[in-house]
Amino acid sequence: MTTRRGILKLVGGGIVVAAAAGGGWYAMNGPSNEAREAWRQAGTPTEYRRRFLSYALLAPNPHNRQPWLVRLDGEDGLTLFCDLERRLPETDPFDRQITLGCGAFLELLSIAAAQEGYRTDLTPFPDGVSLPRLDERPIASVRFVAEATKPDPAFAFVAERRTNRNTYEAREVPDDLLKQLEAAGTLRGVTARTTGEGELSAKLRDISWRGHEMESITQRTMKESADLMRIGRDEVNQWRDGLVLEGQMIEFARLTGMVTREALLDVKSDAFKMGMDQYREKAASARAFAWLVTADLGGELARLMQLDAGRAYARLTLKATQLGLAVHPWSQTLQEYPEMQLLYREVHDLIGEGGRLQMFVRVGYADAVIAAPRRGLDALIADAGGAKKEADQG
Ligand SMILES: Cc1cc2nc3c(=O)[nH]c(=O)nc-3n(C[C@H](O)[C@H](O)[C@H](O)COP(=O)(O)O)c2cc1C
Repeated sequence: MTTRRGILKLVGGGIVVAAAAGGGWYAMNGPSNEAREAWRQAGTPTEYRRRFLSYALLAPNPHNRQPWLVRLDGEDGLTLFCDLERRLPETDPFDRQITLGCGAFLELLSIAAAQEGYRTDLTPFPDGVSLPRLDERPIASVRFVAEATKPDPAFAFVAERRTNRNTYEAREVPDDLLKQLEAAGTLRGVTARTTGEGELSAKLRDISWRGHEMESITQRTMKESADLMRIGRDEVNQWRDGLVLEGQMIEFARLTGMVTREALLDVKSDAFKMGMDQYREKAASARAFAWLVTADLGGELARLMQLDAGRAYARLTLKATQLGLAVHPWSQTLQEYPEMQLLYREVHDLIGEGGRLQMFVRVGYADAVIAAPRRGLDALIADAGGAKKEADQG
């Protein structure tokens, strides 16, 4: 019998559930194909900047907010802005992670351009650096220069890369693969570090779990995530962003009222408890970790480093994809809100090397996951006056 408990077991923060069932039911209730259209459209636009952008928007980014707005300039340029409405004020009060998501976007943009022989000339924050939060000033201006730029081998993995939140296999990640991740994620002022199974990874498992727990029981931070959960195929298809709860079991649980935003927020509900059980298992399954560290500088340099850290993270994940490794960020302990302060200190004391941790991810082997939704290129391109084209649905 399918019990309430049995159904809820399949529910967890941002997990796509795909249990076996009849084809008809699956076709109607499986993950939304339309919400993943952008992955199939990558590389198809005829205008060359749009073609590069169609890859850039596949970048990893916090809570899949896709906080990017683009203005095409003249014949060979563009300007990237942050879509200020798509920030995460509770968990990312200084827009640090959103800036990393912009860095990842720019890295994929330049990798896509190199594939066609273009060099990408990038000027970060051309009108000044916005602190302590981002504002309407541009994140970067970009010019594409046709010259004999060599294709980048990382390009082959742009459309295959995924964030994998499955439970990881009890299988060690070989040291030489971890070294390759370090090499890929180390650029400019950003250093990538890793650890395989051992005393340090046991401590990191524990701290990442405690960070998740703290964020989940802090109502306003949990609410920020719950508000961005897209529960069921219709919501996923409507929004094409956020944290997806999708699949047949979710549809069933949604229809019967077992999974709602309210239940996911209620620490006493079965849905909340089951979600926590699932995440505990995921944290416990981590065998290896990778992290990015920069100098801990204030002011303008801090912002520039965040952009570089995003670029480094894009590189690290593309390398992981190439090596057949799954990666999953656990960003909670790196976040700057008051309730997280002690864990923030603890993780920095453990692996921060006196610098600033920008990214912290578990690494391992896991079953493949499907692509996360994307809103598509038209949703990002602003018109000539800089106003946002209202392609958002909702
Ligand atoms: C700065 C940053 C922080 C992130 N933090 C988390 C996190 O704490 N937990 C998580 O599950 N995913 C995290 N992610 C991954 C995003 O949720 C993911 O990239 C997004 O949902 C899109 O999915 P995709 O990477 O599969 O395309 C983070 C990504 C970035 C760039």
